[in-house]
Amino acid sequence: GPVRPLIIAIDGPAAAGKGTLARRLATHLGLPYLDTGLLYRAVGRRVLDAGADPNDPAIAAAAARALVPGDLTRDDLRGPPADAAASAVATIPSVRAALLEFQRGFGRARGAVLDGRDIGTVVFPDATAKLFVTASPEARGRRRWLELQQRGVAAELAVVTAEVRARDAADAARATAPMKPAADAMLLDTTDLDPDGAFAAALQLLRPLLAPG
Ligand code: DC
Repeated sequence: GPVRPLIIAIDGPAAAGKGTLARRLATHLGLPYLDTGLLYRAVGRRVLDAGADPNDPAIAAAAARALVPGDLTRDDLRGPPADAAASAVATIPSVRAALLEFQRGFGRARGAVLDGRDIGTVVFPDATAKLFVTASPEARGRRRWLELQQRGVAAELAVVTAEVRARDAADAARATAPMKPAADAMLLDTTDLDPDGAFAAALQLLRPLLAPG
């Protein structure tokens, strides 16, 4: 039959190390990489820029439909306001529907590594391989805090950790495409792993699924 493009789905909560891992796997496997969180961040940003409420379904859906590739390379997509706005617009079914075709089209042509919350459950339920990447809330709060520090954003560790926890709770509790491991996802806990360790562990998990034949 036709050769199916290789799709690697990487899901999990905030600051678990998905992005770093997904980027490295994509380079290693020669696949395009899509950070799907950027789509929700860009929609949230457009709504905030319009002075509107990210929980407003009509405005957020219009922003999702108006998204252009240049929106994904803005430099203000990271940080607490964009985090919260992204998580809010991500609860709106019409926003998710508008972003679904783009994500599928991205992977369909040449295969892809995609990271997000619902890649293995909704976007590519037939993915070649699915990883659900987690780490303790403390480890994830610390990583997000270090990221903010590196970008010169002053923040308190306890506050950042609380924001990460609150966003994960919202992402897991929403009705449409909640964050959860697909039934056939492999779990990878990065609490005690550095980026090299996480990459090695992921390759070990993926190897049997990527082997030819
Ligand atoms: O991966 P991230 O932290 O950049 O994602 C930001 C928000 O976007 C996240 O809190 C929930 C939403 N999101 C989603 O609902 N589905 C995805 N596939 C990716 C992100």
